[in-house]
Amino acid sequence: MSNRPRVFVSRTLPGGDAPGTPFDALKAHAEIDVWEATEPPTAEALRARSAGCDGLLTVLTERVDDALLDAAPRVRVVANMAVGYDNIDVLACTARGVLVTNTPGVLTEATADMTWALLLAAARRLPEGDRALRGGGWGPWHPTWLLGYRVSGATIGIVGPGRIGRAVAQRAQGFGMTVLYTGHRPVEDFPGTFVPLDDLLARSEYVSMHVPLTRETERMCNAAFFARMRPDAIFVNTTRGGVVDQAALLEALRSGGIAGAGLDVMTPEPIPVGDPLLTAPHLVVAPHLGSATLETRTAMASLAVDGLLAGLAGRAPSNAVNPEALAAGRRRA
Ligand code: GLV
Repeated sequence: MSNRPRVFVSRTLPGGDAPGTPFDALKAHAEIDVWEATEPPTAEALRARSAGCDGLLTVLTERVDDALLDAAPRVRVVANMAVGYDNIDVLACTARGVLVTNTPGVLTEATADMTWALLLAAARRLPEGDRALRGGGWGPWHPTWLLGYRVSGATIGIVGPGRIGRAVAQRAQGFGMTVLYTGHRPVEDFPGTFVPLDDLLARSEYVSMHVPLTRETERMCNAAFFARMRPDAIFVNTTRGGVVDQAALLEALRSGGIAGAGLDVMTPEPIPVGDPLLTAPHLVVAPHLGSATLETRTAMASLAVDGLLAGLAGRAPSNAVNPEALAAGRRRA
């Protein structure tokens, strides 16, 4: 039997296993088992396929928790092909000496572009216009038909001034916008003005979410949050659906408490077509496409493979979420 490490990969990677692809790089160093289906593995299947593995390459639908780690006691590294890692119980991993890596940086620009796609689509009512045109509802040009909201020169509020928040703010400068931002503290060189959240909500015509999903941010966009926004404001979320109380968003859109929303992320994903949220007026939705370009997804896969191989070699790469796990792992060995 080979003594190369065994790795479970929970989805096929961009480019398949052609030469030069991230998968090909992984194959050179490990015995690989790939989940080929489009549907994610169930928790049970994930446990069964991870048992006996030294490393896991996961995507955001896989829950890595005590139950999985119990079933896969050899696992030393979990490389999550996403910048967000709310699907992983990092504390449980650290306690067992399991290194976790993510894919920061490489998806920043693609996700910022997607934020702008949603912002512009919601502001200028593109899906409504598209539907009207295809449905035969395009009447004669009229001065007051499908009026949207100004973007150039408006004020945007960025909640969460990390990499993606910054990239969104930089794009806003090109639109001559006033940029406000909020977070735990001011960030050096951030292209905008730091303000408290309440102030940001009261002043911004666009509010864009860029915080990770944590206990602190879960459902932070609730009824009180939307009540503080301007009635002519548009809400954009490209981070995680869990930061939004969707019933509150639906109510804010229905009652005219806010003017519109653009969402790339929802709860659950995929959202059932009959979900009440989808009945909201002035709502533009996309099926979690923030990082969905071939270049970006390939770079994410590559970074995940690098993290996995580094972890298997006992090194903490720069994209390690819990580098301290290595010391715990050495103690365990
Ligand atoms: C995608 O949502 C990611 O976190 O990379």
